[in-house]
Amino acid sequence: MSQQDAGGTGALGAEQVEQPPAPDIDISKPHVARMYDYFLGGKNNYAADRQAAEAALKATPEVRLAARANRRFLIKSVRWLAQEAGIRQFLDIGSGLPTQQNVHEVAQSVDPNARVVYIDNDPLVRVHADVLLATDPNTIVLEADMRDPKALLDRPEIREHLDFSQPIALLLVAVLHFIRNHDEAYAIADTLREALPPGSYVVLSHVMLPEQLTEGQKETLATYNTRTATGLTLRTRDQIARFFQGLTPVGSGLSLIADWTIGNEHDSYGDDVISIDEIPALKGFPLMCGVARVDG
Ligand SMILES: C[S@@+](CC[C@H](N)C(=O)[O-])C[C@H]1O[C@@H](n2cnc3c(N)ncnc32)[C@H](O)[C@@H]1O
Repeated sequence: MSQQDAGGTGALGAEQVEQPPAPDIDISKPHVARMYDYFLGGKNNYAADRQAAEAALKATPEVRLAARANRRFLIKSVRWLAQEAGIRQFLDIGSGLPTQQNVHEVAQSVDPNARVVYIDNDPLVRVHADVLLATDPNTIVLEADMRDPKALLDRPEIREHLDFSQPIALLLVAVLHFIRNHDEAYAIADTLREALPPGSYVVLSHVMLPEQLTEGQKETLATYNTRTATGLTLRTRDQIARFFQGLTPVGSGLSLIADWTIGNEHDSYGDDVISIDEIPALKGFPLMCGVARVDG
């Protein structure tokens, strides 16, 4: 499977009107999950998403490359966690739409019994994932909002699917910057992390507030903040580092996307999303990412 198109957006003639795949899905406004899908070259997006994404790209063309590099970070981290750290359980919050090399596919390439829970509050994710996962008993997808992390952790489906006495990788990849309030973002990350036993890991990426935003970056930020429901909240390097407080960083630790390594850069995982030769073009791009261990 590379990309799913359960919504039937596909290639449309100019005269065709796009229809949402379920009545509760509003396709009239841009949504961050579908804009990201567009950046990655997916088909699970609608006219409003494409227009907003194009506006963001016009102002900051590197956004497309950064989205692909973020995906490579996710793929390489999951591969490393399964292969090198022996992790067999993944809790992926803000999982996004099915795309190339989804978390369960990467983890199950190491161990077919690896278990994955995908959580996202975009109902479109549920529609697509239902199609994608129909035949995989080791992976479930829940439509839920991380803004109530306690309620999320109490969901019986999660407790039935994951064993919280064994290490779990918590993925918070490109999602916490959709929470405007700093204290709320920290409370979400802390509550989720505190539920994990020692030997677990946290995988995080987050757009950074640089010392000086370029005019293009300001425009892209304005596109997100005026057109999408969540907006995009940039945080400084120190504010992002706070998410890793008390954890033990692995690989290069929390790094800018162009500088990040974990030790498996030369295996081919993630190379179909972005080749390693393209990464230097993102030198200095303000997206931070890292993996860290929960030691107790
Ligand atoms: C940019 S995508 C990242 C997808 C994937 N984690 C990755 O990095 O490839 C962010 C995802 O977070 C989801 N999201 C945003 N706010 C959320 C919330 N409060 N609860 C759950 N998911 C959320 C969006 O719907 C979207 O699918």
